[in-house]
Amino acid sequence: MTIDLGHHGDTEVGAGLVDLAVNVRREPMPAWLSAPLRASLDDLAAYPDAADATAAVAARHGRDPAEVLLTAGAAQAFVVLAQALRGARRAVVVHPQFTEPEAALRNAGHPVERVLLRAEDGFRLDPTLVPADSDLVFVGNPTNPTSVLHPASEIAALARPGRVLVVDEAFSDTTYRAGVPGEPESLAGRRDLPGLVVLRSLTKTWGLAGLRIGYLLGPADLLPRLAAAQPLWAVSTPALAAATACAGPVAVAAEREIAARLAAERDHLVRRLRHVPNLTVAGDPAAAFVAVRFPGADKARVELRERGYAVRRGDTFPGLGPDWLRIAVRDTATTDAFVDVLTAVLEERP
Ligand SMILES: Cc1ncc(COP(=O)(O)O)c(C=O)c1O
Repeated sequence: MTIDLGHHGDTEVGAGLVDLAVNVRREPMPAWLSAPLRASLDDLAAYPDAADATAAVAARHGRDPAEVLLTAGAAQAFVVLAQALRGARRAVVVHPQFTEPEAALRNAGHPVERVLLRAEDGFRLDPTLVPADSDLVFVGNPTNPTSVLHPASEIAALARPGRVLVVDEAFSDTTYRAGVPGEPESLAGRRDLPGLVVLRSLTKTWGLAGLRIGYLLGPADLLPRLAAAQPLWAVSTPALAAATACAGPVAVAAEREIAARLAAERDHLVRRLRHVPNLTVAGDPAAAFVAVRFPGADKARVELRERGYAVRRGDTFPGLGPDWLRIAVRDTATTDAFVDVLTAVLEERP
């Protein structure tokens, strides 16, 4: 079967369904974000100027503005990288992970090699599986769809001169470890690793999927090549306003509080799921979703839809298959109601 790399959770959501398929947080927008966004509408006659937002994002990560490229969502960064680095000889994607990096590479004409991490190993990264001569490597951390958070040191070990190492940290702001002040395994602030490019998204935690805003952080000598592959004025003025607001100390502190709450809600979901017979939770979930495996998950997904719940199918992720689903972390009441319905679906099977 050919895997549909272009399938995404948003197509699983339908009218009247409780959405456990898309990992975008839906909460009222805080005033520190909505005010500058609304104010930016007064400036729409001018072409966007990314300088202030770039400086704000650089400051947030302790980097130089020359090491920041704002993009129309992290999704645009995959395309920019794939197009700008057409000269790469051996592109490798570590799966299971978000499918757009591979799709963007293929669209740009790259032959793509897959490194498959194994469920039996908790989808832990094994750096020795990445071919030593690969000069373009994509890995997600934490990884969508497995929710596994790899140690930063193991990802860092993949960096080397002559290789561009792309770490998709779209969900890093959802990770949390008690006693650790920032994001536990992020490489966003690392300037010492050769060829390291870190991708970030502002669409998940801040509910801005429709606005399209993200960025990449990387070596100053690489970024002009990437910028040259980006369409002119790629990031709109409202998206730039959002990037500036989300880089500020108020936003970063709020992000940590949201991540702490999410961790408690995730623990609750995982605890409840562990009591569902024949169901396994992948790895040690660390992000805004969990991946689960049980026989006939593909059929259960259809039955769940009939009972009002949309979950993300697992079979379009290389390395997973029809026995997998991805479930978004929600508030505990939603989780309880969902797990009750899932349990009933499985119990009523012939
Ligand atoms: C792991 C991962 N990376 C990147 C993206 C792209 O995010 P956006 O383009 O909305 O910033 C997504 C979206 O679902 C994702 O799941």
